Amino acid sequence: MAEPNLQEVHDFLVLIAKRAGQMITSANPTTAGSGSKKNSSDLVTETDRAVEAMISSSLRAEYPSYSFMGEETYKPGDTLSAAPTFIVDPIDGTTNFVHGHPYVSVSLGFAVARRPVVGVVYNPFTSTLYSAVKGQGAFLTDPTHSRARLPLKAEPEPLEGLDTCLVAVEWGSDRSGLDYDVKVRTFRKLCASKDDGGAMVHSLRSLGSAALNLCAVAAGHLDVYWEAGCWAWDVSAGWTILEEAGGMVVDANPGNWEPRVDERRYLAVRKGVGQRALIEEFWACVEGRLEVG
Ligand code: IPD
Repeated sequence: MAEPNLQEVHDFLVLIAKRAGQMITSANPTTAGSGSKKNSSDLVTETDRAVEAMISSSLRAEYPSYSFMGEETYKPGDTLSAAPTFIVDPIDGTTNFVHGHPYVSVSLGFAVARRPVVGVVYNPFTSTLYSAVKGQGAFLTDPTHSRARLPLKAEPEPLEGLDTCLVAVEWGSDRSGLDYDVKVRTFRKLCASKDDGGAMVHSLRSLGSAALNLCAVAAGHLDVYWEAGCWAWDVSAGWTILEEAGGMVVDANPGNWEPRVDERRYLAVRKGVGQRALIEEFWACVEGRLEVG
């Protein structure tokens, strides 16, 4: 098989993301009209399914030899192969979508040999587009079509310690068991005062879309994002964008500097002097061992 032309793939994904965006902004979702998958915090709408169907048929028509993995068509046991693969979340932030909260994205990733190499994340409500091709840098295109290289500050401030950081976390849709305890205890430790043995971060944020959290770290709007339980389609596109913006993704559990994109545990840190030390400091705050993945 010929080597994929990553710039061409990127340009096609941007086109598809905009088309998906039109479907999303013209839909009229309601909380009552949404369905749930495993529980009441794991929502899905007809729009998620329709958008994924449009994206997969467009990608299969244009790139018939590449594989496809999508949130709405995934079946337990499906695995990410080493073949060139589109990794797609038609609506990342479905909960926001049904509540009319405008942090929603189309997340379109492309991986080769299981490594994310192209990422397009589009928020159709704010008309902001984040995108990257491996080796070419990451960019934010705003509603006026002006394009800025990420991170937005060319020389971001040093990462001096967690007590200077704005940190994203997510509650996710698994609200029981050991991993939930690890999450809640870690959130507490991150926020608690130093007298109480905490790290006393500036604050926690949850944008409700893993892809937008990663893009915010890439831009420098957030310093760190820690998540366990989301999936490859939530993070694949944002992963390339963050790496191309000088950021790093490691395992949410301490010790693994090179996680796979489908491992379901992620710690993302923005560009800045002190990145590795900050990762070590964060890992020391993780209260137990996450089992997901
Ligand atoms: C969700 C979002 C959320 C994350 C959840 C995901 P969805 O994706 O990315 O930030 O915490 O784990 O499931 O369901 O809206 O596509």
